[in-house]
Amino acid sequence: MKLFLDSAKTDEIKWALEMMDIDGVTTNPGHVKASGKPFMSVIAEIAEIFAGTDKPISVEVNPHLDDWNEMVKEGKKLAAISPNFVIKLPATDAGFKSVYELANDGIRSNLTLVFSAAQALQAMRMGAHFVSPFVGWKETNGEETTHFIDEVTQIRNVFGFETEIIVAAARNTRQLVNSAVVGADIITAGLAVFKDGFSHPFTDVGLAKFQAFWDDTPYE
Ligand code: E4P
Repeated sequence: MKLFLDSAKTDEIKWALEMMDIDGVTTNPGHVKASGKPFMSVIAEIAEIFAGTDKPISVEVNPHLDDWNEMVKEGKKLAAISPNFVIKLPATDAGFKSVYELANDGIRSNLTLVFSAAQALQAMRMGAHFVSPFVGWKETNGEETTHFIDEVTQIRNVFGFETEIIVAAARNTRQLVNSAVVGADIITAGLAVFKDGFSHPFTDVGLAKFQAFWDDTPYE
């Protein structure tokens, strides 16, 4: 399973690349705002970090756009900046159509704001390279998500779609494990999720115990 970092903060991205060999990055307008930098500047900086790799960076079109011609135009403009860029589009009529048009031009897209298996199916049909079912937001809304991700994965596998499934808005590593068990390809999460999720209090307790034993034992 691949791990993507959900962030536009270049210090976090550099850390995740160096320490975790992160497999890609997803950004959204919220992450860009949190970076404190202009949109075009920060995506250029992220592109530079990944230059020469094949790791995908999702960059989202202006969320005010509701005309597919405009979405495709902006998608092409962004895709021309870096071969790593994947165009993130919303799961709307215009977004689905834009995925189709961009795919015909060989431009990869990531269908975002996906909250139902039907939306994911349509993204796959239209040729999305990635589809991003959101688990965190659904769970906050009291909805279950393991069956949701299982359905999306089964649809992809049964029909042999080439779309990769990015489990998005992940808030904890239980969601990561549940997604891995049902065969989702990727999970994207903030750095804190990975840092917290890959630690365990017993690891720290055990390490302290072993250090004490080590200190009480002659080396030779
Ligand atoms: C995914 O690609 C999105 O960027 C992300 O998961 C959105 O959710 P969040 O910003 O609430 O984590």
